[in-house]
Amino acid sequence: MEKQLGKNRNKVERPGSGMEKKIDLLTEQKLYPFLSEERQKTVICLDCVDSTNTYLKRLAKEGAKEGTIIIANEQTAGRGRLGRSFQSKKNTGIYMSMLMHPKGALENISEITAWVAVAVSKAIEQVTGVKPGIKWVNDLVLNGKKICGILTEMASEGESGQVKYLIVGIGINVNNHKEDFQKEIQNIASSIREATGKFISRVELSVAIIRELDLLCQRWPDEKEKYLQYYKEACVTTGKEVRIIQRGMERIGVAENVTEEFHLQIRYLDGTKEIVSNGEVSVRGMYGYV
Ligand code: BTN
Repeated sequence: MEKQLGKNRNKVERPGSGMEKKIDLLTEQKLYPFLSEERQKTVICLDCVDSTNTYLKRLAKEGAKEGTIIIANEQTAGRGRLGRSFQSKKNTGIYMSMLMHPKGALENISEITAWVAVAVSKAIEQVTGVKPGIKWVNDLVLNGKKICGILTEMASEGESGQVKYLIVGIGINVNNHKEDFQKEIQNIASSIREATGKFISRVELSVAIIRELDLLCQRWPDEKEKYLQYYKEACVTTGKEVRIIQRGMERIGVAENVTEEFHLQIRYLDGTKEIVSNGEVSVRGMYGYV
């Protein structure tokens, strides 16, 4: 029998209440009662791993089933976009990867990352009552600071270029304190706990994410309009001054809109316009460009 998720509109954390030391370990024993028997077969929970994406890539090569999910309490070599590392402190965040074999043209596949940002945002909203903003293209933010990043990696069939499989990796700062982040990123990274003042059940949030990812797979690619609308409403990049860094070149402009393909339409200071589909976009905010 699958357990129902309770709402985690839990008490506000007060110093000395004991909640600040609470650790809710992610284990299969804790997750499985909330998942159907069929789903339990493809959700693997690890205590510590180099990177859930790397681990799942190994399983994918050995023929792992579509939908296989790896979740870990800690990563020793968590990877981010653009070759960066992703700080993955023990027992504070959710480090999760899912194997997908999505149908559709290669160019549409890149939209999956944006769909995943929507799915994770919905799960966070369901569990915590707060709706994160989406910083184009795939960062989730609360109070202007990053709380979640997504790394999508793809393997394609040699000559044909067909997508063999996709690994979507999600890293969420859930219960981290400010000191848990390295000094250099303390101004730009935060956690859901820091933003809401509430201890968040990682078990509850992980289950909500798994459910949203499963719904995403059922809805892909037909229900694009709904994901696009949610994305546009949540996008914190539009209407802001942005700095575009591409091939080592920097340009300043204003993000005008998110296109049907989840790309960003930019108007530069000289009036010219460009649609940006990759590269790095920084939004001007309280702490300069983040
Ligand atoms: C980014 O913000 O640059 C993307 C970060 C993605 C981190 C997640 S954590 C789970 C999965 N495993 C990894 O090594 N990276 C992704």
